[in-house]
Amino acid sequence: MTIFKIFKGDICSLAVDAIVNAANNSLLGGGGVDGAIHRAAGPALLDYCRDLDGCETGDAKLSPSFLLPANYVIHTVGPIWRGGYENEAALLASCYQRCVELARQQGIQSLAFPAISCGVYAYPHEVATRIAIDALSASIASSGNRNTIEEITLVAYSDQMLAHWQAALTFSRSEY
Ligand code: APR
Repeated sequence: MTIFKIFKGDICSLAVDAIVNAANNSLLGGGGVDGAIHRAAGPALLDYCRDLDGCETGDAKLSPSFLLPANYVIHTVGPIWRGGYENEAALLASCYQRCVELARQQGIQSLAFPAISCGVYAYPHEVATRIAIDALSASIASSGNRNTIEEITLVAYSDQMLAHWQAALTFSRSEY
């Protein structure tokens, strides 16, 4: 049974098994949550990521967390919002699903996500959070008793995003 939680604040502060980074294709750091995670993890994270050889949009790669309280960082690259006709929804769903797959392979039991693509990449927040919850719910349901993830935390960095996560979770629960 996987429980969903919502947390408002800095994802870097969470002492969960893994935090997810909303990275770019280079995996060499940036602004937003990517910048915050690299700052908090220390320079060893960048050195490690240099050897990961980048990451495709919709894919995810695992690294140690170095100075962060979490044990791992799962770097994923969300789609840039370009109007919704360039496969953005499928690519965003894929980010969440690939992160769950990597977490399961690593035996990760607690995982925290920022709102992928909802900052610099400008994905509309309401639909992005619904895609996230649907993708996570589908991943968990499809893994059945192979599911090792006990807790998923959805992180909001603003009251507005908090409200979107709450609405998306409520909507999802009304569906299942
Ligand atoms: N903790 C949790 N959430 C955060 C934090 C933080 N410390 N900092 C920012 N956020 C939130 C943003 O408010 C937004 O809701 O994370 C969400 C994702 O925003 P971005 O970090 O801008 O990520 P994204 O929209 O996926 O764009 C990725 O931005 O930083 C660059 O290198 C990154 O090129 C990549 C692009």
